[in-house]
Amino acid sequence: MRAWQLEDFGLDNLRLAERPTPTPGAGQILVKVSAVSLNFRDKAIVDGVYDPEKIPKNLIPVNDTAGVVAEVGPGVSEWHIGDRVMSHFYSHWLDGAPARDEPDWQLGGPIDGGLAEYMILEANSAVPTPANLTDEQAATLPIAALTAWFSLVEYGKLQPGQTVLVQGTGGVSLFAVQIATALGARVIATSSSDDKLEKVAALGAGDLINYRTTPDWAERVRELTDGQGVDQVIEVVAGEGLNQSVHATKAAGHISLVGFLGGQTAPLDVLPMLYSQAAIRGIAVGHRRAFLDMNEFIEKQGLDPVIDTVYAFEDAIKAYEHLARGAFGKIVIRVAD
Ligand SMILES: NC(=O)c1ccc[n+]([C@@H]2O[C@H](COP(=O)([O-])OP(=O)(O)OC[C@H]3O[C@@H](n4cnc5c(N)ncnc54)[C@H](OP(=O)(O)O)[C@@H]3O)[C@@H](O)[C@H]2O)c1
Repeated sequence: MRAWQLEDFGLDNLRLAERPTPTPGAGQILVKVSAVSLNFRDKAIVDGVYDPEKIPKNLIPVNDTAGVVAEVGPGVSEWHIGDRVMSHFYSHWLDGAPARDEPDWQLGGPIDGGLAEYMILEANSAVPTPANLTDEQAATLPIAALTAWFSLVEYGKLQPGQTVLVQGTGGVSLFAVQIATALGARVIATSSSDDKLEKVAALGAGDLINYRTTPDWAERVRELTDGQGVDQVIEVVAGEGLNQSVHATKAAGHISLVGFLGGQTAPLDVLPMLYSQAAIRGIAVGHRRAFLDMNEFIEKQGLDPVIDTVYAFEDAIKAYEHLARGAFGKIVIRVAD
């Protein structure tokens, strides 16, 4: 099969190669990949800034994959050739509390991912594709959508009428806007771009803040919420901004600590945090059961993932470059028709 492999760190070292098509072992399925989508972590892995010591040489990158079952291994009864299927990022985390070693089983690094013509998945961890989505749309779900869902619903227990703050218009944030809106919550969105704010308003965000022209955005969030702050923040930035998020959260509210766009350390002002009694909850995408719950919701709501651009398999490098430049919606790579 043809596969992109990371021969060393740096985008120049991501190369298209010929490799033997893998054979599914007991409890595994072979998936003919239709499409993958890129996440911030995929670029961070290539750049060598995301757990570099755990990334094996010649890794096939990218978790988010949708495809069709091409072969089933011994003992597999729940999947059949031709079934539509998606990858589940924390491939051993099926339900309940996470184990300490979940990160060792992340697909797309350290385990081989889907940027190839074929991919092996564990049968008990693979996820059926929602009937209302194409494979290109489904490929956007496994990390960004599940992270938003897990934060808002699984941990956050979001209720209609509550208020959610989303930061920027990246993949996680756009799904958070769509899911929170569909659940009847009020969404406040930030972005560096007024054009993107207009687009995010069309997805359901009711209040908009340009964080470039309003650097004190947390104060603006307070103004928009009668001085109280929001029920939930989807924190994708962290760094110094975490203190602003505490300020923007209502007393005993909920901050889902998702990302590190503003830096991998976050100096926290302790006293305001104590007084706010907010909960800061680390998020690691989510487990498979929540993925199934989310897909049921997506089907019922007819939720339509936002895709910026679809690239051909041969143009994977251009797709990574586009991700680095920024996009509005997911960057998808079509692997097969
Ligand atoms: N913990 C988890 O389970 C998990 C899962 C998924 C992602 N993540 C992390 O979450 C973060 C976001 O991931 P993603 O895939 O959504 O990223 P992405 O699609 O690459 O998001 C990029 C967007 O983030 C916004 N942004 C960048 N710096 C910002 C800042 N200082 N303040 C506000 N917004 C800013 C920008 O929006 P505008 O252009 O609108 O300004 C930018 O376009 C990353 O750190 C990623 O590693 C974590």
